[in-house]
Amino acid sequence: MSSDYLQLEQRLSDLLVMQALYSAIDLGVIDRLTAGPMTDARLAEAIAADPRATQHLLRLLGDEGIVQAAPGGGWTLTDYGTRFRPEVPGSLHGLVLSYVELLHPAYRRLRFSITTGQSGFLAAFQTGFYEHLARHPRVGAHFNNWMDTSSSDWLPALLRAYDFAPFRSFVDVGGSRGRLSAALLAAYPRMTGTLFDLDQALAEAPAVLAAAGVESRCECIAGSFFAAVPQGAELYLLSRVLFNWDDARAVAILKQVRAAMPPQGVLLVIDMALPDQGSAPAQTLTSLNLLALFGVPLRTVGEYRALLGRAGLSARRSDKIADTDLALFEAVPIAGRHP
Ligand SMILES: C[S@@+](CC[C@H](N)C(=O)[O-])C[C@H]1O[C@@H](n2cnc3c(N)ncnc32)[C@H](O)[C@@H]1O
Repeated sequence: MSSDYLQLEQRLSDLLVMQALYSAIDLGVIDRLTAGPMTDARLAEAIAADPRATQHLLRLLGDEGIVQAAPGGGWTLTDYGTRFRPEVPGSLHGLVLSYVELLHPAYRRLRFSITTGQSGFLAAFQTGFYEHLARHPRVGAHFNNWMDTSSSDWLPALLRAYDFAPFRSFVDVGGSRGRLSAALLAAYPRMTGTLFDLDQALAEAPAVLAAAGVESRCECIAGSFFAAVPQGAELYLLSRVLFNWDDARAVAILKQVRAAMPPQGVLLVIDMALPDQGSAPAQTLTSLNLLALFGVPLRTVGEYRALLGRAGLSARRSDKIADTDLALFEAVPIAGRHP
């Protein structure tokens, strides 16, 4: 056996570690240790688990730097370990749960996705991604938590990259819990906003808006962007929405937005996009994730421009947002062309 075998085996074990971490979160290990240090035996009793098996799970979490021996005995969370609590800034809780509950089942059908170019998720669950979230609110809440914390990561860069000062009103289409809306309203005190998403995504939005002190300037409206989008705002935002949909449905969403925009309105599309030539390394896994979940790998910048054009919109600017893996497209209605 080659001497690097063990090292390579460890490198390939990430998926198993993720599954073990999922079990620890799901069983309540992270919750219990948040309350204070605990021995293996007390923890096993608290989560109604086998003591020996719990000990082995804790050892693995120790190897991964998630728990450590407490000075007075037992186990305690490390700083990294606290990142798996759902409510902390930069939480990794929603990401781990969503990887295991949503991505892993889709990846088990990756052969199907690669051979057909279609969604492995649909093949695994016999239902679309957002329909599945509507039917499983706990899983939906985990996904919304993931979107919420991951958007906090790039919002400062977006606010640096684009001047929102000319706008007095916006609609955040598919805005989830409202992290982007809250950041905009906090940065621009004369703005008002409308947060628009499916009912299932808006449950936690009032708390996010209230925490930013902007709830009086933001209306939350539940609805589907395939039916209609709230009308008449100066600015429309589509952040990380279009990359979930095939061309026909992406154009349908853009047409609804175009129909809601006043003639002088502006649409900002924020999405991950491949460069027209080649690919950026960080994007290759995302592209495969999107294929597995939605049957739509990442689009190029040129493909986004073409989609906008098909909906009667013209991209007058497209830029990479510095310090992020996202691109920003600023689009306006093409005069005389109706969607
Ligand atoms: C990938 S998330 C992005 C959320 C947020 N804009 C962000 O950048 O973090 C896509 C969002 O589209 C919403 N969505 C999916 N189908 C929708 C529909 N038919 N109408 C309105 N929103 C929808 C989802 O609920 C989800 O919040």
